[in-house]
Amino acid sequence: MKHLQFIDEYGSFSIEQPENTSYLYFPLASETGLKSSLTPNLGGDSKTDQETFLLEPVSAENLHNNRSVRNFWLVCENGKVFSAAGASAEQEASKFTDFQDHSRVTAGFMWHTLERISSSLSLETRITSFIPVNDNVEIMYITVRNQSNSIKNLIPYAAIPIYGRSADNIRDHRNVTSMLHRIRTDSYGILVRPTMSFDERGHRPNTKIYYVYGCSGNGQNPESFYPTVEDFLGEGGTYTHPRAIYENFSGVPSGSSAAGKEAMGAFRFPELKLSPGGKAEYILLLGVEDNEADINRIFEKYNTSDKVIKALEITKSWWKEKVNTGFHTGDADFDRLMKWICFQPFLRRLFGCSFLPHHDYGRGGRGWRDLWQDCLSLLLMDPCGVGQMIEKNFGGVRIDGTNATIIGDGDGNFIADRNGIARVWMDHALWPQMTTKLYIDQTGDIDILNRQASYFKDAQADRGTQIDALWDAGQGSLLRTEGNDIYTGTILEHLLIQQLTAFYEVGDHNIYRLRGADWNDALDMAPEHGESVAFTCAYAGNLRELASMIRLLESRSPGAEAELIEELQILLNDDTGLFENIEAKKKLLASYTQRCRHRISGRRIAVRLSELAENLERKADWLTEHLQNHEWIDGGTDEGWFNSYYDDHGRAVEGFFPNEVRMMLTGQVFSIMGNVASEQQIRRIVNSADRYLYRKEIGGYRLNTDFHELKFDMGRMFGFAYGEKENGAVFSHMTVMYANALYRRGFAKEGWKALKTLADTALDFDTSRIYPGIPEYFRSDGRGMYHYLTGAASWFMMTMITQVFGVRGQAGDLILAPQLMAEQFDEQGEASVSLVFAGKNLEIIYENPNRKDSGTYTVFSAVCEGQQLPTDDLGHVIITRRILDTLSDDCHRVIVKLI
Ligand code: G1P
Repeated sequence: MKHLQFIDEYGSFSIEQPENTSYLYFPLASETGLKSSLTPNLGGDSKTDQETFLLEPVSAENLHNNRSVRNFWLVCENGKVFSAAGASAEQEASKFTDFQDHSRVTAGFMWHTLERISSSLSLETRITSFIPVNDNVEIMYITVRNQSNSIKNLIPYAAIPIYGRSADNIRDHRNVTSMLHRIRTDSYGILVRPTMSFDERGHRPNTKIYYVYGCSGNGQNPESFYPTVEDFLGEGGTYTHPRAIYENFSGVPSGSSAAGKEAMGAFRFPELKLSPGGKAEYILLLGVEDNEADINRIFEKYNTSDKVIKALEITKSWWKEKVNTGFHTGDADFDRLMKWICFQPFLRRLFGCSFLPHHDYGRGGRGWRDLWQDCLSLLLMDPCGVGQMIEKNFGGVRIDGTNATIIGDGDGNFIADRNGIARVWMDHALWPQMTTKLYIDQTGDIDILNRQASYFKDAQADRGTQIDALWDAGQGSLLRTEGNDIYTGTILEHLLIQQLTAFYEVGDHNIYRLRGADWNDALDMAPEHGESVAFTCAYAGNLRELASMIRLLESRSPGAEAELIEELQILLNDDTGLFENIEAKKKLLASYTQRCRHRISGRRIAVRLSELAENLERKADWLTEHLQNHEWIDGGTDEGWFNSYYDDHGRAVEGFFPNEVRMMLTGQVFSIMGNVASEQQIRRIVNSADRYLYRKEIGGYRLNTDFHELKFDMGRMFGFAYGEKENGAVFSHMTVMYANALYRRGFAKEGWKALKTLADTALDFDTSRIYPGIPEYFRSDGRGMYHYLTGAASWFMMTMITQVFGVRGQAGDLILAPQLMAEQFDEQGEASVSLVFAGKNLEIIYENPNRKDSGTYTVFSAVCEGQQLPTDDLGHVIITRRILDTLSDDCHRVIVKLI
């Protein structure tokens, strides 16, 4: 039998005996901040932020023993004990034997049901866990069914240890912080209010109350409580063999209190009499609030089965509607996988890059790249408000082209960095422009380039190499002019500063310096002489695209000029002789950054848009030629690729080395995407990538070959075992960007191979061992790692929509330029995508009766609401904004016939 099966078109799935697979976890979250992870035995944890963990924080390796988290026990008349979470010593011991309970997890967006059937006890239990959209409470809705022919008398117990403090205290003063606990039982459960937030830099009074409440499906309260771990386990007891349950300890009544101990949300319900086939229901509520009134409000809201079932339905439909993109291809499982991939960007927005068992780093919050990547998927699913979000995010750019890296909650909230010299990631300036470009394409709002945004200011100056001694926090984190006014400039100006400062910051090979790292965070040991050829290619592409955005702006108001800060004139130097001169470039950059170190003049110059565009194009052309002349590695007639990096000794990292071939994917992705590689070179790159990097059975294209060297002059990645994370894993984000680049250049077959191999491996449960979705990477045995929270999801989704289905904005119009392969059409020769564009619900259906491959078909006709749609010079269907605006709010079908 297949391990994992989809059960509906939204990607809901079920899996039998999931506890027999290691490292499985499932995310649940609310929009208001509660985030949980659940394992098949209901292990995992729950928190609102780093400081506020309701359940003890777990890392992936804790999951093997993580049996002490959410439990619901039933004690039978004959003294036999059953854990509905499967977390009792007996159930654990019968694993992998014929006596194992039958278990199944069924799950969909933000809900998770664990069923267990004990044939020896004739009991069936079902625990559905979910977090309502707008409350910080995890709900466990439990049903118990008597499968025997006789009446059963059962005593039910809830048992959930309440950690109730900061994740930092897992090792730092774990015991001392339990002394802060003040614990109380009331009619429906247990509340823990720590007296303070323990932090030796400055203890703070605490206001959070953690709780576990429970009642039966018709509101009946528990009768006896075990408010501390010691009360519940008893001397020598364990979570899988708690003495309170096995020896029927009496517990304490409601209204009791305890203090200074590890807290336990455990209680016993009155005895339950279940007739044959009879069913009973229980509700457990786990949460954290600032006051008791809110806890009571939550309890009132969810204290009966009817209320809980209704809330579950609302939660399910909320998330289903959020994921408003759907694919129909010849492979139904792929389409369902895509549902999860489209859902993942929401998870990344809620969880950041922390707070799932593999993601046991960071303190929440998001990084600069995530900020912009989240916008990509939002632009495709929920674009309202993204324009404003983008404008606010530009406020994180510094006048020297670097950006804030400490990002607070809410949009545009950047926090000053005053502690020493900060790390600069040289790729950071790339992503805002890519997102702005997608925004303009999807919405047509080219005027965003003229909108004003402030600049971020802190002590970091001269692109993170100096401290501005004249700045202090009292001056605030907005850039000011010499006249002390807060300065704002256009978004176009921000983009120019980002792209142009990067252009001059070159190393010994006249390639952009690597600095603290680029996209590959683990290339962090070459700050002096390291250079990133890969991202120099990407920036070359960016310069050209910025020029084309400027030309679009110009086309709307011919002859127009851009108002720019006077200092920027320095960066507009247009002398190709200077481009060749590394020292002169460095000097030029220094003269700019020094002039802007503390404040700027506030004076502006006007530059014609056409002149600006030409200026950028010349730089892009020079870069392309330079890269072509110096970075191509010739691999024989049919092979070759671009060197991606220089190490801290200034040596090219890739090529034919005495003991091995060294090749990295990153340089290939961006030379293709940035239009640096010629078509002929792309063919050769693909051959080399297939030869040196491709491993079909583990997801496809690896990030690099095995260098067999620690390379302390490059980065921590070489310390990782080969095949793990940034060292040679199939790193989904880069593989998807490889596919994206290939599609952009018309290499559909090759792009599809990259995407399909990732998808096939993710769906092959026996290899990937993950629930549906795209993991951050597949390691060398194919296991999917760091599941759910990855920028790869946004890019996968974007590539499927805008490239594979070719449904993309073009200055606000919609164009349809499919690059689907024959195998992607169903038996009727159809493939379709449903999405929202320009606020309209559209279903784009491609009919390919002859089942031709991309490149061999052309558009024969295209019809929307009985209206024939035109095609452009490239043969792409165009639906103008004007036509889109006339469409009603219903769903509209666009039928495109291909011949
Ligand atoms: C992760 C980080 C991302 C970084 C990448 C490579 O990727 O979140 O910022 O660029 O590793 O080091 P992700 O999880 O987005 O796939």
